[in-house]
Amino acid sequence: MIRPHGGKLVNRIAVGEAREELLARAGGLPDLILSWQQLAELENIATGLYSPLEGFLDELNYYSVINEMRLADGTVWTIPIVLDTSEEVARALKLGSQLALKGKDGKIYGLLDLEDKYVPDLINEAERIYQTIDDRHPGVANLYRRGQVLLGGKVTLLNRLYYQDFNEYRKDPAQVRELFAARGWKTVVGFQTRNPIHRAHEYIQKCALEITDGLLISPLVGETKKTDIPARYRIESYQVVMDKIYPPNRVEMVVFPVDMRYAGPREAVFHALCRKNLGCTHFIVGRDHAGVGNFYGTYDAQRIFDLFKAEEIGIIPLKFEHAFYCSRCAAMATSKTCPHEEEYHIILSGTRIRELLREGRRPPVEVSRPEVVDVLIKAAAYMYN
Ligand code: ADX
Repeated sequence: MIRPHGGKLVNRIAVGEAREELLARAGGLPDLILSWQQLAELENIATGLYSPLEGFLDELNYYSVINEMRLADGTVWTIPIVLDTSEEVARALKLGSQLALKGKDGKIYGLLDLEDKYVPDLINEAERIYQTIDDRHPGVANLYRRGQVLLGGKVTLLNRLYYQDFNEYRKDPAQVRELFAARGWKTVVGFQTRNPIHRAHEYIQKCALEITDGLLISPLVGETKKTDIPARYRIESYQVVMDKIYPPNRVEMVVFPVDMRYAGPREAVFHALCRKNLGCTHFIVGRDHAGVGNFYGTYDAQRIFDLFKAEEIGIIPLKFEHAFYCSRCAAMATSKTCPHEEEYHIILSGTRIRELLREGRRPPVEVSRPEVVDVLIKAAAYMYN
C-alpha cells in the first residue's frame, strides 16, 4: 500500500475515555464558533485526508506553502489550509491556550491548541494561489470574504459531523485503504470531479483502468460555484454508469468532502496528495484540471507536477490530452490518437450543454450517455425552473 503523504496517516480523532475526558474539559474552555465549512476542514485534518497536516497552518508554514509550495520542513503542499476569524474575535484569544471548537448548533466538535495568530497578505495569496487578484475568480472572491486573522495550531476532533446525504459514500482515509486492501488492488487510480460524468471522463477513466487494478471515483461534494450542477445529480450520474457500464469489481466511489478552490495547477497537486492519502497510487489530470473561465492554460495543471521530483509527490499523475468523440474514428480519441480534421470532432462546452438543457433538448450521445442525460434533465428541471 502506498504510504500517506509525509509518511504516516494522521489521526487526530479522540476516542473512548480520552474523548470523554477532553469533552468534559472542553466545556470549561473559551470557545470559537466555526462555520460548517470550517468544521469540515477540522474533520478532514483529523481523519488524515490532509496528512501530514495535524492542524491549521501557522504563519511560518502558511508563507512557506504560499511562496514555496512546501511546508516549512520541505514537504510538498500547495494549498493553504487555514482557519480564519475576525480581528475582534482574534483579539480576545490567548496564544498557548486551548479552544473548544463549536458549531453554530452549540455542540463541541473539537479542540484547537492555539499556537499562532496572524494577518496574511491576501494579494500575495491571490497572486500565488490563483494567479490573479481579480475577484471575478470564485476562489479569489472567497479569499477576499475571509476573516482577516488566521489562527494556527493542532486540532483534535471530539464529535463527528452529521451529514444527511451520501452517507454510503463517506469514508475516512483509513477505511478507503482497508477497502482497497480487501479488494486486493495494488494500484488504484483516483479521479477528482465536480461534474456529472460525460464520455470524455469515461474515456480517460477507462484508459487509466487498462493499466491499474481499480478506479476510485472521488466526486467533490464540498462547496462549488452556483453554476456547477448540484452534487446529488453528479453522484446519481455516477451511480447510473457504475450500475450499467462499469465492471462492478473494478470501481469504487467515495465522496471528497472538500470545497472547490478553482486554483487550477496548485489544486491539482493538492487533489493528488489527498487521493494519495486515500491509498491511490495514480491520479488523473486531464484538461484544465480544477480550472475556471480562462484563468489557466489548458495543460498548466499537468506541467506543475514537473516542478517536483516524482518521489516528493509519490502518487503518479496520469496526464490526459483533451478527449472528444471523432465521427471519422467512430470512437473517443485525443489529438494523440486521432488523425482527422477538427470538423469531425464533437466537442460541447459545459456552457453549450447547459444551454441545451435549459431549452429542454438532450445533449448528443457522443457527448453524454442517454442514461446520464436522463439525470441531467432532472438536474436542469431543478436548477432552471
Ligand atoms: S475538475 O474541476 O474537477 O477538474 P471536471 O469534473 O470537469 O472538473 O474534471 C475532472 C477531471 O477530468 C480533471 O482531471 C479534468 O482535467 C478531466 N477532464 C474533464 N474533461 C476532459 C476532457 N474533455 N478531456 C480530458 N480530460 C478532461
